[in-house]
Parts: sequence; structure tokens; C-alpha cells
Amino acid sequence: MRKPLRKAIFPVGGLGTRFLPATKAMPKEMLPVVDKPLIQYAVEEARAAGIEELIFVTGRGKGAIEDHFDYSYELQETLKERNKDTELALIDNLIPNPGEVAYIRQQEARGLGHAVWCARNLVGNEPFAVLLADDLVQSDIPCLKQMVEIYNEVGGNVVAVMDVPREHTDRYGVLKTGKQSGRLIEALGLVEKPKPVDAPSTLSIIGRYILQPDVFGHLDAQEPGAGGEIQLTDAMARMCGRGRFHGYRFEGTRFDCGDKAGFIQANIAFALRHPSIGAKVRETVLAFAEDLKKK
Ligand code: UTP
Repeated sequence: MRKPLRKAIFPVGGLGTRFLPATKAMPKEMLPVVDKPLIQYAVEEARAAGIEELIFVTGRGKGAIEDHFDYSYELQETLKERNKDTELALIDNLIPNPGEVAYIRQQEARGLGHAVWCARNLVGNEPFAVLLADDLVQSDIPCLKQMVEIYNEVGGNVVAVMDVPREHTDRYGVLKTGKQSGRLIEALGLVEKPKPVDAPSTLSIIGRYILQPDVFGHLDAQEPGAGGEIQLTDAMARMCGRGRFHGYRFEGTRFDCGDKAGFIQANIAFALRHPSIGAKVRETVLAFAEDLKKK
């Protein structure tokens, strides 16, 4: 019988060099889109998909993430005394139940594959999800929930994919595609950051994965790949052809919030949909657009 998906890994051990100086003393995953840090969007998405256990792979300087998901007695007591129930609820809902969250250190930022491997003993022998908080997806149905629905039908490994311009394939893990059925595409192989001329397709993996625990065995070798880092894509590539491996063309818009332009785009897109500030932001964006037309 297929084991249910209960656990999710949040790799948050990266250095965030593309976002310096903002990320010198603050984790990239704590950058806020409108009023919530990126990591909170990822955790809420995981919970909406039925995930019960949250595993954070952290690093030095990432303490703010642990604090964000912990009690803040002084703040919470003060809000209680002042009867600020709305604000209090925003904080209370954040805190996982005891035992639902675990933190493990990736002592050196040796790449995403290494970060995932660091969580192997906490995951054990069951399927798991990986969510990269800096990939933010705006969609009606949360991206991981869409993937879980399809995973419950097909099993195996399922990664979220989207078409990218061919000149951008060297930023992604790219699928060698097999049979396609609706939004589901069989992965015959995967290549990490191929040059546009070498890319087997333009269908690229974003930061949402549902993986079988065999991937840990492939990560054991600890072989550095592109950029000298231990790449998750290389380990996943070794699983293609040995079991079920699919790309899932998710419904929604993905923003690369590890990149300054992507982060600004995400803030505008989420602000436009925000219940209390959406109308005001729309006015501002339209006014900017008018001004730009005149220039
Ligand atoms: P990125 O590829 O964006 O790398 O990682 P990065 O180091 O965070 O940022 P840049 O490229 O230097 O600006 C994608 C995700 O994988 C995590 C990051 O924290 C991020 O959530 N990651 C990356 C790790 O947990 N450990 C690593 O060694 C590398």
C-alpha cells in the first residue's frame, strides 16, 4: 500500500548571496511578501496539503526562523492585556503543536541536495515533500495540494514544473520528457542547469517536490555537481527510469523571491490581492504605469 505523505523538509540553510546586503544578518526566508515572511507562506502551503511534520534544515544566522514559529511571551502577553485579539490570532495560528516541528543544522551550505540529505534520519523510510520558501506560488489551490492530489493517483516522485524561456534553462533542473497526460509529464531524465543549446526541453523544476526516500541513497555519494554544490537534481536524475517519476505542470504563477526582481513582482502580485491594501496598491500601480507612459 502507498505510504501517505506526512512530512515536509524546508531547506533554509542557503546563504542568499543574490539578496545581499539584505540577507547579511537576516535569513532570506524571513523576507516579507506584503506582511508575511516567505517561510510562513511555505509552511501554510504544506499544512493546506495535509503535512503533519515540519522539518527545517537551518544554518548559522537562521535563528529568526525558529523564533518566528515559537512563542513570543512578551509580545503575546502585551497583546492579550491590550485586548488586541486580531493581532494575537495572527501570531497564535503560527505556532506548530509540540512535536510537529524539528530543526536540524546543515553546518556548511553545500547545496540543496546536501540540505535534503541532512534530514534523512528525521524523514526515515517514507515519502516526503520539499518546499523551497523562496519559490512562492500564487494560485487558487495551493501548489503542494495540487501535487498531493496527483501523487495520490500516480505515486512515485512528483516535481512541480513550468515552461521557461529557452535562454533561462541554465537556471533550473530541466526534464527530459516522456509521455504527457494533461498536466502530468513522465520524466525520462533530468539535467541540472543545462546550457540553452543542450537543454532536453524547456520544462523546468521549481521548488516543490514529492520524493521517495530512495533519494537519500543517491545523495549518500555526496558528489558535487553544477556550481560545486551537491545537487538534488543529480540524485533525482538517477531515480528516473528506476521507478515512477513525473513532472506536474502546476496551476498558478511562481515568483523567484531569491531574486530581487522576482521578489518585487511577488510583492506587487500579492499586494494587489490583499483584502485591506489591494485597492490602494492597484491605484498606485496604475498611477505609476500612467507616469511611465509619459516618459
Ligand atoms: P538557492 O539556490 O536560492 O541558494 O537555494 P541560496 O544560497 O539560498 O541563495 P543564493 O543563490 O546564494 O542567492 C534554494 C533553497 O535551498 C536552500 C536555500 O536556503 C533556499 O531556500 N539551501 C541552499 C540550503 O538549505 N542549503 C544550501 O546549501 C543551499
